[in-house]
Amino acid sequence: MVKKLTEEERIKLLKNVNSYRREFEDRLSPLDGLRRDKPVTFISVGGGELGDLAVTAAKRIYGGLSGGIRTIAFDRYNGFPAQDSSDYYEIFDMKDGDALENYIRKYIPDPNEPHAIYLEVEMIDTERTFRLGMEEGYRVMSTPYGPLVCMDRHATKMMFDMLRLERVEWAYARSDEEVRRIAADFGLPVIVKPVMTSSGHGTSIVKDEESLKKAYAHAREHARGIGEEVIVERFMPDLKSSGTEVTQIVVRHFDGDGKIVDSFLPPIEHRRPGATYHESWLPATISPLAARRCREFAGKIADFLGGIGVYAVEQFVIGDRVYNNEVANRPHDTGLITRWMLNMDEGGLQLTSTLGLPLSSSSTEISRKGVYGVAHVVLAPDGFEGERKVISVDMGAIHRFMGSGEDFWYFGKPSAYAGRRMGLAVAFAEDLNSARHGAERLAHFAEGCILYGGD
Ligand SMILES: Nc1ncnc2c1ncn2[C@@H]1O[C@H](COP(=O)(O)OP(=O)(O)OP(=O)(O)O)[C@@H](O)[C@H]1O
Ligand SMILES: [Mg+2]
Repeated sequence: MVKKLTEEERIKLLKNVNSYRREFEDRLSPLDGLRRDKPVTFISVGGGELGDLAVTAAKRIYGGLSGGIRTIAFDRYNGFPAQDSSDYYEIFDMKDGDALENYIRKYIPDPNEPHAIYLEVEMIDTERTFRLGMEEGYRVMSTPYGPLVCMDRHATKMMFDMLRLERVEWAYARSDEEVRRIAADFGLPVIVKPVMTSSGHGTSIVKDEESLKKAYAHAREHARGIGEEVIVERFMPDLKSSGTEVTQIVVRHFDGDGKIVDSFLPPIEHRRPGATYHESWLPATISPLAARRCREFAGKIADFLGGIGVYAVEQFVIGDRVYNNEVANRPHDTGLITRWMLNMDEGGLQLTSTLGLPLSSSSTEISRKGVYGVAHVVLAPDGFEGERKVISVDMGAIHRFMGSGEDFWYFGKPSAYAGRRMGLAVAFAEDLNSARHGAERLAHFAEGCILYGGD
């Protein structure tokens, strides 16, 4: 179990970020060249589709191991997406700090040798990676301390307040009674969330007073980490009716003079009918003023946390107003669309920046001009109980079905549980609705082409 921070520990952590950042950044240096005889090491802790995108970038862009980058991926199950694209892999429970440390040391015995460690997932021992980064000199990217702030909703919101950034109205509660008091103050509906979770686990939208107690219990039950505390937010009905959601990605990287600078990706817009990532697209349809605010807020967050690598800030946009919601100290699933729409995708950007390699100014620009590119998730059926093995995928049928310019990325996961993300369907069109419709149509067709065995 992850230990939840106390109020005092959160204040201390945020106060310490400044000194952590200076200390950590002092140890970072640009990498000018790659050497065949002495490859640099890139470890992806977590080898899902996001890890795969970074690991394959080492091959696609830099020639892989013989070009001078050795890639290693870790995950908890056999057959994970980045397993066969990395040069080496390990399978173990990444929440086990001793195992994690041992495997990192196995591939990087000397932290003074050039390397980068990308934390692709949150379900790992982040206290151990913090220690390895701050005390042992390992380059845990974007920073070793960032995950401690970003994984904890309370600490993240305290950071927004410290930086005076717009965010949804929120409070924390440690009992039913406190939840009730806050709800009365905000007015219903409210949204009750665990302090630490993702993908909507433990979250409820509460519309009537009788359900508050259940929502509090639900949030505590599904939280990662133990404790009484939950987060209560004012629910924003305008978000779904007239607003939209974006992910603003910032890459911190070395410039030609060896200084760390920010580059901004265009904001990525997304919709989620349920709790998890469903579809995302580029370019976003938000106003120029909202887009400016997205950049300004995300830039302040990335600069506060520091280090080098990709930061992804989830934001709610209603008209010209922008509210910061969450921060990931790494690439983001909504950003997978960058593979088709930017000169360099977020995996390439993460690999390049964290190794200290130079980034050209055009890397973060849109590559396909004049069209919307939409990625839509391809999911395993909702009705699955437990895990089912994947038997086959009918690529022929999918390719015959595809419209002109459409694309399908199959992740190759060996098994599925209900609603597991198995791939992405992508479509392009001059008008956004056609592109969304095309991607959805292809995604639903592809879902029917994956054959699963019995459980
Ligand atoms: N206060 C709010 N008002 C309206 N909608 C909200 C609010 N908070 C969250 N949502 C909706 O729920 C989604 C998930 O919320 P949030 O990102 O906080 O949770 P999560 O569990 O971390 O999900 P994920 O891991 O998928 O990002 C948001 O993207 C948004 O669509
Ligand atoms: Mg979120």
